Amino acid sequence: MAITDDGWDVTESVGATALGVVWSRAQENVSQCPLFTDPYAQMFLDAAAARGWQLPPADMMEQIRSIAGYAASRTKWFDEFFIAAGANGIEQVVILAAGLDARAWRLPWVDETVIYEIDQPNVLAFKAETLRDNDARPGARYVQVAVDLGQDWPKALRDAGFDDTEPAAWALEGVLAHLPVDDHALLLERIQELSADSSRIAIESPEAGIDVVDWLTERGWEVAPTTAADLMDRYGRCGPDESDAAVPRAEFLDARRIC
Ligand SMILES: C[S@@+](CC[C@H](N)C(=O)[O-])C[C@H]1O[C@@H](n2cnc3c(N)ncnc32)[C@H](O)[C@@H]1O
Repeated sequence: MAITDDGWDVTESVGATALGVVWSRAQENVSQCPLFTDPYAQMFLDAAAARGWQLPPADMMEQIRSIAGYAASRTKWFDEFFIAAGANGIEQVVILAAGLDARAWRLPWVDETVIYEIDQPNVLAFKAETLRDNDARPGARYVQVAVDLGQDWPKALRDAGFDDTEPAAWALEGVLAHLPVDDHALLLERIQELSADSSRIAIESPEAGIDVVDWLTERGWEVAPTTAADLMDRYGRCGPDESDAAVPRAEFLDARRIC
């Protein structure tokens, strides 16, 4: 993959995008009618600030604010995906490029669930340290897999205990838009190889890139797509009438491997 292991930190390079997303979740958490609660988001911001991190420049903050409704809807949708996967008996969860996603701590997981998170070593180290300093405990067995997605992450995942003979629930949230388009198919192929029947995957699929619906359908996945506008409408965050800037051109794909 083009993005390789240059060891970025959570406060720099593409790692800092995790802090932009977590800033949005912290705002949602203290809003009047939040779609979800995420008390961990502010912990990460405080810990990053203590390391000297500052909010991004005003124009970038404006961009982040403009998609607040989208970001909150996205988080809610992935939350619901995981809850439904657990209710359907899936006990393995893999969150790729997890960043500062706090679902392992804030969602009600069913017993025996194991959550694997993949991201850069420095990003995951910051996350673990911050949560430990705040005495946070995950609601399921939690395993960090510190590896670049450009490396042999399937091996790292298996070495960490992942069982590819059992179904898994995968999440690609805020990931494809950050990877070169040429790398999308390779990422999906690797997930396909690790996915037993009945596995599920939730994907935030940007407009640019391969046709992910076709890709999955041709390989035995049943795919239910939802546009960003429809999703925001569903959660009362508008959508169709919003400005283009507030509604990124993306689809949310909920897929299940049926053969
Ligand atoms: C926009 S953040 C999204 C994080 C998380 N999914 C969320 O929604 O909060 C992108 C994350 O992808 C990670 N990332 C990007 N490229 C990666 C790569 N090649 N290998 C591992 N992690 C990567 C970054 O470190 C960052 O944490």
